[in-house]
Amino acid sequence: MSDRSPLAALAGSTVLVTGGAGLIGSRITARLRELGARPVSLCTMNAYPEHVYTDVFGVDVTDPDVVAGDIRDTALVRKLVAESDYVVHAAALADVAACTREPLAAIDVNIAGTQTVLDAVAASDRVRRMVFVSSASVYGDGTPEETHSQDLLTMRQLLEAVHGRIPPQFHEGHSLRPVSVYGNTKAWGEEQTRVVLGQVGVSYAIVRYFSVYGEPQTVKPNSHSWVVAWFAARAAQGLPLHLNGGGRQVRDLTHVDDIAEGTLRALCSPRAHTETVNIGTGVATSIRDVADLVRSHFPGTALLETPLPAGDPLGGYASVRRMENILGWRPQVPLPDGVGRYVRWLRGTPQAAPAWLNETAAAG
Ligand SMILES: NC(=O)c1ccc[n+]([C@@H]2O[C@H](COP(=O)([O-])OP(=O)(O)OC[C@H]3O[C@@H](n4cnc5c(N)ncnc54)[C@H](O)[C@@H]3O)[C@@H](O)[C@H]2O)c1
Repeated sequence: MSDRSPLAALAGSTVLVTGGAGLIGSRITARLRELGARPVSLCTMNAYPEHVYTDVFGVDVTDPDVVAGDIRDTALVRKLVAESDYVVHAAALADVAACTREPLAAIDVNIAGTQTVLDAVAASDRVRRMVFVSSASVYGDGTPEETHSQDLLTMRQLLEAVHGRIPPQFHEGHSLRPVSVYGNTKAWGEEQTRVVLGQVGVSYAIVRYFSVYGEPQTVKPNSHSWVVAWFAARAAQGLPLHLNGGGRQVRDLTHVDDIAEGTLRALCSPRAHTETVNIGTGVATSIRDVADLVRSHFPGTALLETPLPAGDPLGGYASVRRMENILGWRPQVPLPDGVGRYVRWLRGTPQAAPAWLNETAAAG
């Protein structure tokens, strides 16, 4: 990163990161520290066992700027927001399957909690910009008319596209068609950010992350999100890799380092004001191809076809034009390098292997 990076504007500022102790939040706060900013994390720290936060994510829970608290705590959120120059709202029930199982919990955290953060930001006379963290899940499976240029499609290709075999490319202007409770809560959060902060004239930007991976990502029980971490954790234990729905779903896998960088660029790039920007690589990879990449590090790992879980989109990949134009940047970590880094990290970090995986997964 050159000294002329727009991120230099963050030096000396206080940045509230909700969910700041989670996978992405902890990478954002680490980057903020490197940039000379003061990150303040507000996080329940209950999405993983306690030791994952301390031993795997490296969160210093004794740091007074790591606040164990809830975004639904109005007084606490108001106090922290009032002391901040910027806000990154990343706290969420971030597991698609958990949101499907417990829609009321998803609504409580991702909707009511987001409202609390928005109200506090709207009331602040100090916050220069808030970034709302959204997700490519708002696109769902897309619509063939929007995600493929009609000019380029023959009738046969259009039929293939309808059946999901030509991966759709998602542009920020496309209709939002979430296929999960999780995606619905993110779509609501985007619109509500526009409504609440637009009304009072506080600057905001919305980032739509595509599938995030990279060390120290750690799988959650009964989840089907985070395919690189799942496949690597299972392969490392000699377990077969589950290809849900045959593994033909497509994802745009984006390294967590790039996710943190893109988020901070959205926080301070002048052109990101009121914009919605995909954060993805623009490369489509099928789940089967991810399995093959992971298996190249664990030869002999078996594959097992399993049904497609509810709420798991066939997916697509990011249009990166707007991201490049507005943020003046594109992700730097190619998937094979990122997977290699993840596998090396996993091998050197035995405490990251979830104890429950062997028992529950051995059955599958
Ligand atoms: N990981 C991905 O692939 C991905 C993709 C798109 C978007 N996102 C979004 O990125 C953000 C961060 O996700 P992550 O992957 O780091 O997940 P994560 O679960 O590691 O981090 C989220 C953190 O938010 C905290 N949290 C949950 N409810 C809270 C509440 N009520 N108050 C305060 N903190 C609370 C959790 O304890 C957790 O530490 C989320 O908004 C998620 O929806 C993630």
